[in-house]
Amino acid sequence: MKFSLLFASLFVQAVLHKEFVGAKSDKLLGYTILLMRVGIIGGGTIARLFIEHIRRGDLGRARVVAIAGKSESSRGKALARAFRVPFVVGIQALLAKKPDVVVEAASHDAVREYGEPLLRKGVAMIVLSCGALCDDTLRRKLERAAARGGALLSVPSGGIGGLDALKAACVAGVDEVTIAVAKPPAAWKGIPYVEQLKVDLDALREPCVLFEGPAREGVPRFPANVNIAAVLSMAGIGFDRTRLKVVADPALRHNTHTIDVKGRTGRFSMKLENVPAPDNPKTAWLACYSALAALKAVRSTVRYGT
Ligand SMILES: NC(=O)c1ccc[n+]([C@@H]2O[C@H](COP(=O)([O-])OP(=O)(O)OC[C@H]3O[C@@H](n4cnc5c(N)ncnc54)[C@H](O)[C@@H]3O)[C@@H](O)[C@H]2O)c1
Repeated sequence: MKFSLLFASLFVQAVLHKEFVGAKSDKLLGYTILLMRVGIIGGGTIARLFIEHIRRGDLGRARVVAIAGKSESSRGKALARAFRVPFVVGIQALLAKKPDVVVEAASHDAVREYGEPLLRKGVAMIVLSCGALCDDTLRRKLERAAARGGALLSVPSGGIGGLDALKAACVAGVDEVTIAVAKPPAAWKGIPYVEQLKVDLDALREPCVLFEGPAREGVPRFPANVNIAAVLSMAGIGFDRTRLKVVADPALRHNTHTIDVKGRTGRFSMKLENVPAPDNPKTAWLACYSALAALKAVRSTVRYGT
């Protein structure tokens, strides 16, 4: 009797630690252990953080079944090799790995390429490069595909917060939403729109406004830097009514986002001073962890907060 209990316990432990690349779930002693099969698009800062946390078991019963890259020479290939995960290129190869959920941590192009086919096939998708959804045609296509496929399209709060209060306030009616995105000048280098402005970012001695206007116009001008204005718009009053201000400020050390909301339920303001990820000053730690929290929420049957 003792021996069979010991054997059962060892068997359970062995299975819990086993690589389940090919299995959706396991039947164990009458219980079904559901495994969340995770695909990752991209091989950068956020992709690495995901794979590290999943490997440590921080996200429950999850396993990375594939990392998708743009080509065989993409950075994701080395990441996949380091963690002994299959590396794939293209939507068909990713679908063949049967993910339950795919985390897009790559680029606007990746949202365009992978979004619709994944959602249509019923694969949940967590989209980080959400500035792409400023394109109404693309956003509607993804929303329709999610409805048809019965899949979740999730856009995490990224480097901001307060979307819970904003969504509640919107039910009553919101008049104004503004967001000021201020970063040290170096964070705005290499962006074609900023280069056209001919601002000498290295010579700035005081804050310089690079853009001020509707999020609809601003988001496409900063494809990798103001995704937060996109998620704020989508959670709130839309791209046309959300106002965005983009500032290069030489006095700043942290990326600083200030949000103001005014409506029938009152006002609120919020300021976030975000620590950048050590290997990527464009990406805030908070944004990385908001993506991990979104993955945790995919299978949750309880929700605290709006
Ligand atoms: N929503 C937010 O608040 C928020 C915050 C930070 C970053 N982001 C966005 O998330 C994405 C990932 O961020 P990161 O810091 O990991 O970036 P990163 O630059 O460190 O890594 C991006 C990776 O994606 C790969 N990639 C690019 N296009 C691809 C494609 N079409 N198919 C497959 N792979 C592709 C690149 O080769 C690279 O490995 C970026 O688009 C970034 O703008 C959003």
